[in-house]
Amino acid sequence: MYNIFQRLSSITSFAMSTLMVLAVLISLTTPFIPSSPTHSVTLHSVQNAKGRVVDQFDRTARKSEFARLTFDLDADLSSMFNWNTKLLFAYITADFESADYSTNRVVVWDRIIRNTRQAKLRLRKHHNKYTLRNMKQTFEGVEGANLTLHINPVPYLGIMYDKEVVSIPFSIPRPVVKDSAKEKAKTKRGKKV
Ligand SMILES: *[C@@H]1O[C@H](CO)[C@@H](O)[C@H](O)[C@H]1NC(C)=O
Repeated sequence: MYNIFQRLSSITSFAMSTLMVLAVLISLTTPFIPSSPTHSVTLHSVQNAKGRVVDQFDRTARKSEFARLTFDLDADLSSMFNWNTKLLFAYITADFESADYSTNRVVVWDRIIRNTRQAKLRLRKHHNKYTLRNMKQTFEGVEGANLTLHINPVPYLGIMYDKEVVSIPFSIPRPVVKDSAKEKAKTKRGKKV
């Protein structure tokens, strides 16, 4: 009748189908595991200055307006960790509308959170990690902007999704007239004397 290999084969295929069904169930249900994260973002100031940006990701170093944000971030995301959470990717974007493009999104800060200990965030008077500037090198005509904290839970198994958790409106002022290159030269000269 049935030999050992036929039995093994049917057991393996049954195990495989069961695993498949489990994998599908896990990936479908993980986003619905309840969590109660807390978060708040406070923006202290927005400064706009014109100059050459020292940007490690852009070596063209064109003269441009760049905005410097000062913000506080308080968050406790530890409840978002469950057995199917590999890590959380938290990031803050600045979104604004300009004459040329209806949507501009600049990531100004991000962090990879690998465990519940790192999930308690408390940043004070923090500045943007990445340069905030417009495609057109100027923020002229940019009416308003939103600063939004996003959290992207990365599961071991299943789909990734983006959660916008808090958004605050702000506006970017016109730049303070200042040539940072000249000023640097001045202070250097001043020190030498
Ligand atoms: C900022 O957010 C508000 C509320 O969600 C929205 O109505 C507005 O269009 C947003 N502004 C920009 C520039 O994205």
